[in-house]
Amino acid sequence: MAAAGRARRGAGLSAAALLALPALALLALPALPVLPPGRGGGGEAQPGFSPPPGFSPPLLLPPGLREELRQRRRDLRRLEAAAGGGEAAGAAGLGCGDLSRATAVSVLGWGFTKVVARAVLAGGGSVALKSVHGAGREVRRCVQRYGAPAGCRRLAAYKLLKEVTLLRRLQHPGIVKLYGQCYDNSGDAELRVTAMLELGSPLEMIQLLQTPWEERFKICLSLVKLLFYLAHSPLGSIALLDFQPRQFVMVDGNLKVTDMDDASTEELSCKEDNDCTLDFPTKSFPLKCSVVGKCEGINEKKNLFNAYRYFFTYLLPHSAPPALRPLLSDILNATGDLRYGINETLRAFEKVLHLYKSGLYLQKRPLLLKDYISLKGFRTVEGEGHKCWPSYSHLGCLLSIHSAEEAAAICNSQLHCQSFIVTQHRTWTGRPLASFQSSWTDLIPDTNAVVYIKRSASSGGRL
Ligand SMILES: Nc1ncnc2c1ncn2[C@@H]1O[C@H](COP(=O)(O)OP(=O)(O)O)[C@@H](O)[C@H]1O
Ligand SMILES: *[C@@H]1O[C@H](CO)[C@@H](O)[C@H](O)[C@H]1NC(C)=O
Ligand SMILES: *[C@@H]1O[C@H](CO)[C@@H](O)[C@H](O)[C@H]1NC(C)=O
Ligand SMILES: [Mg+2]
Repeated sequence: MAAAGRARRGAGLSAAALLALPALALLALPALPVLPPGRGGGGEAQPGFSPPPGFSPPLLLPPGLREELRQRRRDLRRLEAAAGGGEAAGAAGLGCGDLSRATAVSVLGWGFTKVVARAVLAGGGSVALKSVHGAGREVRRCVQRYGAPAGCRRLAAYKLLKEVTLLRRLQHPGIVKLYGQCYDNSGDAELRVTAMLELGSPLEMIQLLQTPWEERFKICLSLVKLLFYLAHSPLGSIALLDFQPRQFVMVDGNLKVTDMDDASTEELSCKEDNDCTLDFPTKSFPLKCSVVGKCEGINEKKNLFNAYRYFFTYLLPHSAPPALRPLLSDILNATGDLRYGINETLRAFEKVLHLYKSGLYLQKRPLLLKDYISLKGFRTVEGEGHKCWPSYSHLGCLLSIHSAEEAAAICNSQLHCQSFIVTQHRTWTGRPLASFQSSWTDLIPDTNAVVYIKRSASSGGRL
C-alpha cells in the first residue's frame, strides 16, 4: 500500500544481499556488493522445517562456543519436535526465490540479536525481513569471548531459527505472522537465515500516551488476549522473557509481539516452594512448587506482571470514563499484586469492554440533550478551532461517544462548546465519533447529518 509506494525502487538493496551481510553494514548501502539472486542452494521454504544438511558447527571453533552451539541446537531440535515439524504441509510460504526478487530494502530497526528491514515483494506486498545482526550486542559479546565471528553469527542464527519455529506453530492475532523463511548454508561456518514476516511499525509509547483512552484500552485488551493464548498455547504455557514495548509492533492498529527468540516454553523446575520465587526489580512473589516439580503458573504470572508494569500502569488509567475507573483500579491492583491469573484478567477486561460498548456505565446521569436543538440535514464546518484532548483528530475536537445524550454531557462540560455533530465514523468498539465545535454559525446542508446546538447558544442574545 502507501508504504510500498513510498519506497524508492532502485535506491534499495537487493534482498539477497541481506543474506550476505553482517547486518548493520546495511546502513552503508552503496558500498555493498549486490549478490546475484538465488545465491546458494538455500531452496524454497522447506516444509519439514529442519535446517539444511551440513548444519553442524565446524570443529575449528573454540570448545566453549562449540558447546554453546550444541546446546542451542539441542534446544531447537526439542522445540521443533514439540512443535511438530510436519505442520507446514500445504502451507505455501515465501522462500529464497521471493527474497531474491524483493526490492526497496531499507532498515527498520534492530535489537541486540537481529536486524529488521522492510522490503517490497515482486507482487507488490511489503514484508519485514529479519536476519542476524552481525554488529549487534549478542554477536559482539560472543566474538569478544571466543574470537570466532562466523561461529558467533551462527549462534545468533539459532535464536532466529527458534523464533521462526515458534512463529510457525503459534498463530494468534497478537503474534506477528510468519510468511516464510530462507536459509543459505553455502558459506562454510555460517548459516544465514532470513525470516519474512508481517510488516508492522514500532510501538511508540509516548505517542500512545496521547491517544484516546479507547485506543489505549484496545492495546491492553489485545495484550491480555495474547497472554491468554500464550498461557494455554499448543506448546504449553509460554513466557516472554524479554517483555518490553520494543518487542511489539503495531499492525493496522493492533498490537503484535514480534520478538519471540527469548520465549520460554519450559516452566522452572523446583524441589520446594523456596525454589519458586518470581523476582522483579520492585517486587517478589513466592510461588508454589507443584507435585511434578514445576513452579506452578510461573510463566503466566511473569507475563502478567510484565504487562502490568510496562503497559497497564501507563495506558489504562488516565482519562478513562469516570464510571469505569473503579473497575480499572481493580484490574491494576489485582494484576500488580498477581491476585488475578490471566483468566480472571481477561474476564475483567471483557466486563469493562461490555460496560463501555453498551453504555451501561452512563446510568444515572441527568438528561442534558433537552438543552439542545437538533437540526436534521445540516452539519457544521470542520475545524472551527475548538480543540480538546485527547481528540481523534488534531484539527478539532473529535471524541468517541455512546449516544447524542452523552455527547450533550460532554459539550456541557466544555467551556467553549456550542454545538456538536454525530459523524458516520465509528471506533473499533462500534461507537460513533462526535465533533464538538465552538460555533454553529456556518451550517452546510448534509442529508445524513444532524447538528445539535446548545439552546443557550441560540437564545443567549446572539441572534
Ligand atoms: N514485523 C516487524 N515490522 C516492523 N518492525 C519490526 C518488525 N519486527 C521487528 N521490528 C523492529 O525491529 C526491532 C528488532 O527486532 P527484534 O525481533 O526485537 O530483534 P532483537 O531480538 O534483536 O531484539 C524491533 O524492536 C522493532 O522495532
Ligand atoms: C492493592 O490494594 C491494596 C489495598 O488497598 C494495597 O495495599 C496494595 O498496595 C495495592 N497494590 C497495588 C499493586 O496497587
Ligand atoms: C483458564 O481458562 C482455560 C481455557 O478456557 C482453561 O483451560 C483453564 O483451566 C482455566 N484456568 C483456570 C485457572 O481457571
Ligand atoms: Mg527485540
